[in-house]
Amino acid sequence: MAVKTTGIEIMGIGRYLPETVVTNEDFTKIVDTSDEWITQRTGIKTRHITNGEPTYYLGAQAAKAALEDAGIKPADIDLIIVTTCTPDYYTPSTACLIQREIGAIGSMAMDINCACTGFDYGLDMARRYLLAEDGVDTVLLVASEELSKFTDYQDRASCILFGDGSAAFVLKRKKETLYASFLGADGTGAGFLAARALKSENVFRKNEKDFDMDMPASREHYLYQDGKEVYKFATKTLAFAVVNACEKAGIKPEELSAIVPHQANVRIIETAAKNLGVSMDKMVVYIDRYGNTSSASIPIAFIDAVKEGRINKGDKICFVGFGGGLTYAAVIFEY
Ligand code: COA
Repeated sequence: MAVKTTGIEIMGIGRYLPETVVTNEDFTKIVDTSDEWITQRTGIKTRHITNGEPTYYLGAQAAKAALEDAGIKPADIDLIIVTTCTPDYYTPSTACLIQREIGAIGSMAMDINCACTGFDYGLDMARRYLLAEDGVDTVLLVASEELSKFTDYQDRASCILFGDGSAAFVLKRKKETLYASFLGADGTGAGFLAARALKSENVFRKNEKDFDMDMPASREHYLYQDGKEVYKFATKTLAFAVVNACEKAGIKPEELSAIVPHQANVRIIETAAKNLGVSMDKMVVYIDRYGNTSSASIPIAFIDAVKEGRINKGDKICFVGFGGGLTYAAVIFEY
């Protein structure tokens, strides 16, 4: 039987995609590839790429749309959580920059980086703050990613995958509802998907020891990916996370109205559906439009499904992600 607990109420949703649309055909002009290869191997047709707008700008547009949808003022927000692996600065956080843009001065503001699994982790963190009933009653959760910043456009196996975009939810506490989460990470796979930050080069440094992870050298700060290892991890953990979250929620995967998976590769999603014994109709997939937008991919897909009437209030939803870290997570809630 479904377990009832204190969960989340989604009061408002909003998303933002930069104007520039890059097609598979466009990639044939910069790397040795084809529309046929990209479509068959990944399911991606187009992705949106910024024209220089930073991550905080993308996030602020989605946040403003979500606030309008919720019908609340910036001053009503108690906590802003931003999920991103592509921040504009080491400091300040993207959350502080978004807070400044939308004028929610005074709220708590912080970033979390769980790569593509970020929105699941963020949702769970928001729920835990709300659960505490300790002064946080309204949370603005924003996923904002500008992956084009560290995408290596000389690496044909990875550059065709990624896009930019953002999405935001306004969340409140909801009593006696469906909610369960199953989150985890396996740091032994950290080197399979990595983009480096600045190296330690302080003036007092004496030792030459290299503390780098055991992975092939990538160009400067660009993203390195071992596609096959990530693929193996993803196909294994997607179903694993959903099954475990379902067990905690007291429901079976087939009882879910919709599963919104991280949009990385349609073949990964098809394998997960097969492993779960659910039809692809249950899987919300918009990867053809946006490619992989990291932590923004799940909420963007959810919002498209809501706008198109595929997801409705009262539906039992599962968000399931995997990504850099390596991380994995599934969150089940009633919309
Ligand atoms: N166009 C044409 N050929 C390409 C290509 C491209 N864009 N990218 C790679 N190839 C080639 C390879 O060089 C290889 O050629 P070879 O057989 O002559 O050596 C061939 O296609 C097959 O490569 P392979 O790596 O086996 O392809 P794949 O079917 O595993 O697909 C990925 C590659 C990256 C699409 C796939 O591994 C994947 O999706 N992995 C997960 C990545 C992911 O989800 N990352 C984000 C996680 S959050």
